Amino acid sequence: MIDLRSDTVTRPTPAMMEAIAQAELGDDVWGDDPTANQLQELAADKLGKEASLFVPSGTMGNLIAALVHCSRGEELILGDKSHVFRAEAGNVSIVGGIHPYVLKNQVDGTLALDEIEAAVRVEDVHVPHTSAIALENTHNNCGGVAIPPDYFARVRQVADRHGLAVHLDGARLFNAAVALDVPVQAFTQQVDSVMICLSKGLCAPVGSILAGSGDFIYKARRARKMLGGGMRQAGILAAAGIVALEQMVDRLAEDHANAKRLAQGLNGIPGITVPGLANSPDVLTTNMVYFKLDDEISIRPESLARRMEEMYQIKIEPGYSQEFRLVTHKWVAAEDVKTTLAAFQHILS
Ligand SMILES: Cc1ncc(COP(=O)(O)O)c(C=O)c1O
Repeated sequence: MIDLRSDTVTRPTPAMMEAIAQAELGDDVWGDDPTANQLQELAADKLGKEASLFVPSGTMGNLIAALVHCSRGEELILGDKSHVFRAEAGNVSIVGGIHPYVLKNQVDGTLALDEIEAAVRVEDVHVPHTSAIALENTHNNCGGVAIPPDYFARVRQVADRHGLAVHLDGARLFNAAVALDVPVQAFTQQVDSVMICLSKGLCAPVGSILAGSGDFIYKARRARKMLGGGMRQAGILAAAGIVALEQMVDRLAEDHANAKRLAQGLNGIPGITVPGLANSPDVLTTNMVYFKLDDEISIRPESLARRMEEMYQIKIEPGYSQEFRLVTHKWVAAEDVKTTLAAFQHILS
């Protein structure tokens, strides 16, 4: 089976299974799981932050960051295509009573700086108080694009002018760092908090890291407990996370190369357009390929997905209105890209 639905489908590597079997364990809610502690120290070090916290999911990491940065009734500035706004079940509003101020994401995944500036509320009894800005890199819904570090430096300046915190949803931040060939700290030094996922392209089975100052992580630990995210012998999972950070980052370049081959190949198939290929060369995509079926193609998205699976054992997620997203990862080899292109070619011919 070739599974192109997401990089969340990645299974742990043999080295991870070995590390899981050998992991030293304790009760992490009491802070005495040595493997979870080791992961948290390693992640803080790699991300250039004072401290970090192992959390069950990226969604919980983003929510905890919002809860720490914003009190009830305060406002969080974020993008209309951001994962926090679109795909986290409205949790910041439901759980935190936080008011989202939504700006349009640009094609390159950024929020326009003048729009951020204009969104910051003035002191007035009628309006909420602005507390934080949430950014995303790579930007999933904008095509998996990698946003360069200088953008974060410019947002930092806006935030500092208004006393705002900046959170980075870096579910795939290592993909951005590898694609742009910059250290991950080039991004993280510009933000107050960052969430990275271990369980996507890095192949760990479960978990994300939230990193920030010591004070931020102290508050985050309380919020994690409040949300029910305190895990007991968390070292079982953290052991795989350590392998993810130590062994799985550099190889993300292979996924990007495969995604590029896939995008170029798909774009050459009559009936398929890959809009991302028309972006300016400055907009760099990573391990995601968004494509759409041209209007004259009558096959329904679900039926294309079903045929790909039944005829070729290739799993794809049926998109909305003829649009699809394919994601490359460790378990998709260059050979699988060829098989996938041949399958699309055959079904659409
Ligand atoms: C950009 C982004 N942020 C956050 C998340 C949430 O991560 P999780 O699925 O671990 O909750 C995802 C998941 O796909 C994502 O793509």
